Amino acid sequence: MAIPQEFISELKMRTDIVDVISSYVKLKKTGRNYTGLCPFHGEKTPSFTVSPDKGFFYCFGCHVGGDVIGFIKQAENLDYVESIKLLAQRAGMTVPENTADSGLSRLRTRIYEANRTAARFYNKQLYTEEGREGLRYLRGRMLADSTITHFGLGFAPKSRFALVNHLREKGFTKAEIIQANLANETRNGNPIDRFTDRVMFPIIDLRGNVIAFGGRTMIKDFKPKYLNTSDTPVFTKGNNLFALNFAKNEANGTLILVEGYMDVIALHQAGFRNAVAGLGTALTPEQANILRHYCNEVILCYDSDNAGQMAASKAIQILRPMGLDIRVVAVPDGKDPDEFMKTFGDQGPARFRMLIEKSGNDVDYRLDKLRSKYNTELTDQRVSYLTEAARLIATLDSSIERDVYISRLSRDQGVSKEAILEQVNKIARKNSAGAAKREFRELKKQMTSESSAISREKYVPLGSARAEEALIALLMNNEDIAMEVIKKVSPELFCSPLNRRVYEAIKGNAEKGYDFSLTDISGGFSDEENSRIAQMLFSHTRENDPKRAAEDYIRKMTDNSQRITPDQVASADEDELRRMMEQIKKKKA
Ligand code: GTP
Ligand code: MN
Repeated sequence: MAIPQEFISELKMRTDIVDVISSYVKLKKTGRNYTGLCPFHGEKTPSFTVSPDKGFFYCFGCHVGGDVIGFIKQAENLDYVESIKLLAQRAGMTVPENTADSGLSRLRTRIYEANRTAARFYNKQLYTEEGREGLRYLRGRMLADSTITHFGLGFAPKSRFALVNHLREKGFTKAEIIQANLANETRNGNPIDRFTDRVMFPIIDLRGNVIAFGGRTMIKDFKPKYLNTSDTPVFTKGNNLFALNFAKNEANGTLILVEGYMDVIALHQAGFRNAVAGLGTALTPEQANILRHYCNEVILCYDSDNAGQMAASKAIQILRPMGLDIRVVAVPDGKDPDEFMKTFGDQGPARFRMLIEKSGNDVDYRLDKLRSKYNTELTDQRVSYLTEAARLIATLDSSIERDVYISRLSRDQGVSKEAILEQVNKIARKNSAGAAKREFRELKKQMTSESSAISREKYVPLGSARAEEALIALLMNNEDIAMEVIKKVSPELFCSPLNRRVYEAIKGNAEKGYDFSLTDISGGFSDEENSRIAQMLFSHTRENDPKRAAEDYIRKMTDNSQRITPDQVASADEDELRRMMEQIKKKKA
């Protein structure tokens, strides 16, 4: 952390967390706190809470939390230093130069600038003699001029130096141009344009930065059809979605996920402005996580060819465990959404709307797909189908949902509900036996490994972990007694690694004098860890007699008898582990 702690403390003192969050979330005052609808997951009743006293926010629904810097980080998708810069600008403060602007952060800024300059350049080319070909191509694909402007589309000239020369004139260095991946380096070290003779699609992040490009050849069957920016300091393919900058404001709980740039653009033009696409890779967990922040339902609309359907199945497997509702739209006749719109012209939007309304959820989709593999007229194959279908239904968590599909299957196949149910239950029991085994293996790994501190928290003896967290919350809420406690309690007394680190950070702040708040520790922790810290703060209310409460907690923590040491865990077999778990559960009860 290159930015001095003093600066961060002052920044936070001058920043009103309620004020900041209010420009993202409609907040209502409820007692000492403010509540609203969580911006990080879809919800209808408010569980998102901001405490101006604590300087923290926390969502009781999705358990995301942190301080105001953490909020900006996640709401704006910025890194720590960038979030501080944004807040500093707001507060009229200047981030100490040489620290924040050093190295990587400076390079990233330059790459953003180079990309923006390139995007302008490419767009202008469309309206030159040479670039007219690009404009003709885009218009030929039925894009309106307003659409071309809205997406900032462009054209990369044939010359291998067009962009490089332009950027050099604008003062960008060879290294910057190459690092932005706008140029490749030749053998003698000179940059030559990466994109030539292609129509260009700028990729824009949630703050409006141009982070990368996709370039499509206009030559039929030329390979590669699309050339994309490789990963750079500002761009990782799997972490971004095309057009999310537009779609996030139109989502209203639902996003349409398609495969290609052109599909997104055609859909936006047709009024489906909640469409996004991956960037030429299979959907990644990171992308799914981003989607989850902006919607609670994903409508998958992948190509109906084999590759597209495989990709859809994989996407479902990633999206479903995240609790997202999923629907799958099948575009008829092997068309993609772009071709669909082109085929139906004026009728396209209405027809596509119908496709969406008709689309089933992913279980329907998977059952249909399964069914198409079998000829259910033949008894043998029907049994196979039913077995496979039961296996699929057994993976559903909700018994209501299971019942719906069992009924439907029973009706379709003329087999009694009871028979299917029995089969489903049998598989579910087997699954959960397997899962229990896996869980124990996992548990053992977590309890012994230092690396997964977070997941490990769960398995620290509950009594002492609770006491540790309560003590931390108490210190943050009662700075006046902190010094006394800190003199008495050594970090070694904490058995949860995360709690120990939090305590060490608080202790560090306290010992530096009272120049800054004890709660200014977010910089040393990941988003996930900050969420846990927020959870600690929000689940412990203020104590009437903090001194006595502190003594209580410390006593609980010192009571070593209920500890299970990592060594004990490492050498335990499955039965012993089971007994330890039971013991912990009993203590909890
Ligand atoms: P059009 O032919 O222009 O309609 O393309 P599309 O938008 O229908 O894309 P397609 O379904 O062919 O591919 C989906 C996405 O995969 C594209 O938007 C690109 O992001 C990516 N893609 C396609 N072809 C290539 C390629 O040759 N190389 C790379 N790296 N990515 C590709
Ligand atoms: Mn297409």
